[in-house]
Amino acid sequence: MTTAIDDSPEGAGPEIWAAVDEYLAGVLGADDPALRAALDSSEQEGLPAIQVSPLQGKLLMLLGQMVGARSVLEVGTLGGYSTIWLARAVGEGGRIITLEIDPHHARVARANLERAGVGDRVELRVGPAAESLRALIAEDAGPFDLVFLDADKPSNPEYLRLALRLSRPGTVIIGDNVVRSGGILDPESDDPSIQGTRRFHELLAADPRLDATVVQTVGSKGYDGFALALVRRPPAP
Ligand code: SAH
Ligand code: DHB
Ligand code: MG
Repeated sequence: MTTAIDDSPEGAGPEIWAAVDEYLAGVLGADDPALRAALDSSEQEGLPAIQVSPLQGKLLMLLGQMVGARSVLEVGTLGGYSTIWLARAVGEGGRIITLEIDPHHARVARANLERAGVGDRVELRVGPAAESLRALIAEDAGPFDLVFLDADKPSNPEYLRLALRLSRPGTVIIGDNVVRSGGILDPESDDPSIQGTRRFHELLAADPRLDATVVQTVGSKGYDGFALALVRRPPAP
């Protein structure tokens, strides 16, 4: 057990972040057999362990519940771990559409969602997310109450533009991995994910329909952050 109370800069590092994450996830109940089974099967099936952390998953669920979300659009399913949390937010009568390019990830996710008892409220579409988003726009599938962007980071500006066409005033748009250990500070970065994330922030700021902030995070996934954006409501008369 980690008991050190150390407020020196050296004390506030990744090991402590991970230990505190684990401790708080235990205390606050951010884990249960269905979630654990989803993580176990994702690992057994060789999926990369890049899903949101338990506390972050619970944050997604709580944000969904706070805005009374009944419909959620997720871009980037992986093994369905964040999808399970979001499915719990919308409840039994709610619906989620989640987009995933990798058929193997999608198969693992489908099984995890069924096992977690939320399969009936989740539609999983396999293919490049930008194409799926355009199809959803053509089908007039929106507006969604909450959108979670968590796929390939270079495409986030495009996903944001498309997601806005599936939104309404009051829609909450959340972006994962928007700090990247501070990598976003480098305007000359040759990493397409950094460039995509920087353009994502610029677009959040420039679009008059959006109001946005970022919550920087530390924990078992290192140092990163969530962008939280609200599609503005018209000013009160
Ligand atoms: N939201 C998940 C993690 C998603 S990881 C969770 O927290 O549990 C990112 C996922 O996006 C991966 O499964 C990857 O295959 C998928 N992805 C990458 N590029 C994509 C694209 N162009 N379209 C759709 N999905 C994509
Ligand atoms: C990566 C993607 C994610 O969505 C994430 O949360 C962490 C890492 C990645 O592509 O490396
Ligand atoms: Mg992510």
